[in-house]
Amino acid sequence: MAPTPKPAHFTLDKAIRSNILALQPYRCARDDYDEGILLDANENALGHALPPPTTNPDEGAFDDLSLHRYPSPLHLDLKQQICAFRNVPSPTNIFLGVGSDEAIDLLFRIACIPGKDRVLVCPPTYGMYSVCAQINDVEVVKLNLDVEGGAFRPKVDEINATLSAAAKSPNPIKLTFLCSPGNPTGTSIPLDDIRAVLANPDYTGLVIVDEAYVDFGPEGSSAIRLLVEEGWSNLVVLQTLSKGFGLAAIRLGLAFSSPEIIQVLNNIKAPYNISTPTAALAKRALSPSGLTLFRANLSTLIANRSTLSTALLALPSILQILGAPHANFVLAQVGGKDGKPDNVKAQKVYEKMAREDKVVVRFRGNEVGCEACLRITVGTKEECEAVVEKLAKLLEE
Ligand SMILES: Cc1ncc(COP(=O)(O)O)c(C=O)c1O
Repeated sequence: MAPTPKPAHFTLDKAIRSNILALQPYRCARDDYDEGILLDANENALGHALPPPTTNPDEGAFDDLSLHRYPSPLHLDLKQQICAFRNVPSPTNIFLGVGSDEAIDLLFRIACIPGKDRVLVCPPTYGMYSVCAQINDVEVVKLNLDVEGGAFRPKVDEINATLSAAAKSPNPIKLTFLCSPGNPTGTSIPLDDIRAVLANPDYTGLVIVDEAYVDFGPEGSSAIRLLVEEGWSNLVVLQTLSKGFGLAAIRLGLAFSSPEIIQVLNNIKAPYNISTPTAALAKRALSPSGLTLFRANLSTLIANRSTLSTALLALPSILQILGAPHANFVLAQVGGKDGKPDNVKAQKVYEKMAREDKVVVRFRGNEVGCEACLRITVGTKEECEAVVEKLAKLLEE
């Protein structure tokens, strides 16, 4: 029998902060469905891009990882490889986090005074910005993207007007999140839009460009150029090995910024946040043979994306694919009998397909500008065929 809890005077509401007790935690489709064909979390369906084991240290051999030692606090050799890969001048421009999710949380902690400062996000967007805001007791200002016709473009004038007004208020905005390519929009943000926010003379906070899906987007669309070639010191670019590299399990996120901001992030991180096995796997992925595999997988997924979109559009109940093809997922809008977007039908199909057919996608119909939309990760050729076949059946039932 469980003992009677003691002491009697102890209650959670006295010990835990109220914003934490009130937190709506991040939820994913995997909380409900976790087996079958998983096209819900924008993972890399082709698997990781790690070449077979090697004994060559230059190719990232990892037979002796000295696991009895703590990992390197800064992983300078891994950062050198990232510099070469992303054309970044120095390891002092790079922070390594336990996924980009850790970098997002640390940005709140370095920039925002809880209960006072605010952040700006542009829905529909990645849910963790708001979850981290609540954890850090920071208010979120939401300025929707222009969603007309699936444009999914930030309204730069409104963003700048909001940032300027906030600068004069007692509750300034300290972080502005731009997700490019966006999740769930799949659409890159033009670099000129980002420049316009960076250049706002009233805004003294940071602009965070989250590029988790950048490898699937057009060449030259990364905002790293704005940092390296143009010298914007209020810019932080986030990337990750979870998507293009197919290494979601190792948890490695990257933040690129000025050496001063990177130093602040390094100062507050846990001393050994990146494990030795994670760093070794990342080095292997960034080795020449790893990068060859990475590029081959990207081309396959990009080809699968266009086959998947064409096949979905051929289904009578798919009205359109919203947004641009810049990520490893597509946003398909479901129509009802009247040919209009049908949110109820989209949700039912999502649930039935996950429960009965074990094909899991993500229902995004409750997000701004995504009425009746299913977000479908681009899978292998077979997975794409399977999801189209199941949808064809369920949508016409
Ligand atoms: C836009 C965006 N940013 C960040 C992340 C988190 O990436 P990581 O695995 O590096 O924490 C995701 C994950 O789905 C994402 O969609």
